Amino acid sequence: MTPTCSGKFICYPYTGKKRCGKVKYGLLEIDEKENREEATFYLFMLSKLFPFLENDMGVDLGTANTLVYVRGKGVVLREPSVVAMDQASRRVLAVGDEAKRMLGRTPGSIIAVRPLKDGVISDFEVTEAMLKCFIEKASKSQNRWKPRPRLVIAVPSGITEVERRAVCESAAHAGARSVRLIEEPLAAAIGVGLPVQDASGNMIIDIGGGTTEMAIISLGGIVFSRSVRVAGDELDEAIMNYLKRAYNLMIGERTAEDIKVKIGSVYPMEKETSMEVRGRDLVAGLPKTLTITSQEVREALLEPVQIILESVRLTLERCPPELSSDLVERGVVLAGGGALLRGFDRLLSEETGLPIHVAEDPLSAVVEGTGKVLDELEFLTKLTTSDGRG
Ligand SMILES: Nc1ncnc2c1ncn2[C@@H]1O[C@H](COP(=O)(O)OP(=O)(O)OP(=O)(O)O)[C@@H](O)[C@H]1O
Ligand SMILES: [Mg+2]
Repeated sequence: MTPTCSGKFICYPYTGKKRCGKVKYGLLEIDEKENREEATFYLFMLSKLFPFLENDMGVDLGTANTLVYVRGKGVVLREPSVVAMDQASRRVLAVGDEAKRMLGRTPGSIIAVRPLKDGVISDFEVTEAMLKCFIEKASKSQNRWKPRPRLVIAVPSGITEVERRAVCESAAHAGARSVRLIEEPLAAAIGVGLPVQDASGNMIIDIGGGTTEMAIISLGGIVFSRSVRVAGDELDEAIMNYLKRAYNLMIGERTAEDIKVKIGSVYPMEKETSMEVRGRDLVAGLPKTLTITSQEVREALLEPVQIILESVRLTLERCPPELSSDLVERGVVLAGGGALLRGFDRLLSEETGLPIHVAEDPLSAVVEGTGKVLDELEFLTKLTTSDGRG
């Protein structure tokens, strides 16, 4: 007889063994909150007997987007890392896509926040609530009887021990049975299918929302990595600052991102474009519309892009010579949302002299990597660090 779930109770066949909970209709009724550990243990044992009950998830907990991979199903969730909540009670009102639509448009009583900044958790409580909601959403497509999930979470390579612990704790509070962490560039390299286990040099650059991560990988490990807290968000900010400086025009984060995605580039384009931008005139205080060209956007992006280029140069300088020669042959893979910015591959190729390949789906590279790690469990112990709970 299979266990069933009713409201806050988990019921499973009564085996005669004394457990906390009351027996009803031949089933042992366990208060999920009070006896969560016992119920989880029971379900864990079941999942060992029946592997289809396994509940493993890979999570790319990004500054801009969170993606969840469910073992055996693939990527089941991709939503912005945004939470809308009531300012006074801090009650969560919306998460993900719905909350992002509210960014910059909320009335006084509601705030829409991004709980991760520069790739790391800046608000624990809100991150926990968001992660919990995403885990529940991702589990929806699953059998209700799956035990609490084991998570593999990708984190920036440059984060501190305290920040790592914060991710583990947030995930545990959000309902994870155990948590393993994998460094983002390693996950991205696995995700795009680089032969990371070979004795040869592979290089990946992941330009996300909060951080740009770059790593040289060989024999299943990171030989050298670098993480700079300059990525998509800084590019948006650079556009906002440019419009303020040049036109006294104040625009919001979402408009800046829109400009970047629609006409942004970092290398001269064959056909330059322009777009209409609406904002608030800082002098008159009134709404204003103007047209901005792609050349202007490129000029605005110059400074943060130079920081990223400098970081790539420094990483290549630290690359052992044998691996450098591999890179000349194999090139470098570009992943993360920033890889979609027009001309980044050409600019990097010109600056480094190396062939640059943009990943097929740059936004999914990291989560696909966590998924592959889940699928090949022997990877788990080798490439990840555990929170010590399994
Ligand atoms: N077509 C595009 N052109 C330029 N930038 C883009 C495009 N699509 C998405 N982006 C940018 O990519 C960034 C999000 O990328 P991604 O989802 O890889 O980041 P993340 O993983 O959430 O962040 P991080 O890894 O830093 O924590 C955002 O800044 C977004 O504006
Ligand atoms: Mg990322």
